[in-house]
Amino acid sequence: MTESSPSSIVVTIDGPAGSGKSSAARALAERLDYEFLDTGAMYRAVALSCLKNEIDPDNEEAVAALTRSLEIKFQDGRLFVNDQEVTDDIRSSAVSSAASVVAQHSSVREILVDLQRACASSSPLVTEGRDQGTVVFPHAFCKFFLTARPEVRAQRRYDETPKNDDRPAFAELVREIRERDERDANRSVAPLKPADDAISIDTSDSALEEVVSSMETIVRDKIKDRV
Ligand code: DC
Repeated sequence: MTESSPSSIVVTIDGPAGSGKSSAARALAERLDYEFLDTGAMYRAVALSCLKNEIDPDNEEAVAALTRSLEIKFQDGRLFVNDQEVTDDIRSSAVSSAASVVAQHSSVREILVDLQRACASSSPLVTEGRDQGTVVFPHAFCKFFLTARPEVRAQRRYDETPKNDDRPAFAELVREIRERDERDANRSVAPLKPADDAISIDTSDSALEEVVSSMETIVRDKIKDRV
């Protein structure tokens, strides 16, 4: 499928893990009354299904066949795979690591990119991921790229990980984040990088509300310029 029609309104938010893009995207979508799409959750859904079905995330052919067989659906902020809810299951460390491996396969990306573009066909959309402004919606009407220092991003992940015996040590999270950044930025397909026309925002020292408010102002100004 090609990109959505030029008249559709798409706001893209890309950035590395823990940059605050998920929270910012969700809040921005709410303020604007747009649909919200978490594309990382789609890669996580595929990764979780690999782990459940004992499919090696490195095996591109097997992962692509599995991805084609999955019905991935968002409903009221919850995520379902083949009608089974996986909203919380996709957030484990094992799934995070496997997701960054399956995201390296171009055939898997093609399947998920088609699904992502279909989401923009019916209503205005705020979508977040790694390649939304560069590959999936290159003509999006407003693009953001959020960043933050690795230690700040690791701290955010640490704070949102359930406090049980499986909670990784903070140093382990910093290591994992650096490893995933490296993989996401250096893969040959759709590497993580800002689109040339993206507005970059460093969220390290800002409160979420502050970030969302400045994004909202930028989007509303652009909407005014469109009419
Ligand atoms: O944003 P996240 O941590 O939920 O993303 C999970 C993985 O999926 C991460 O390693 C990057 C990858 N991803 C991607 O390659 N492209 C996207 N549009 C979204 C996520």
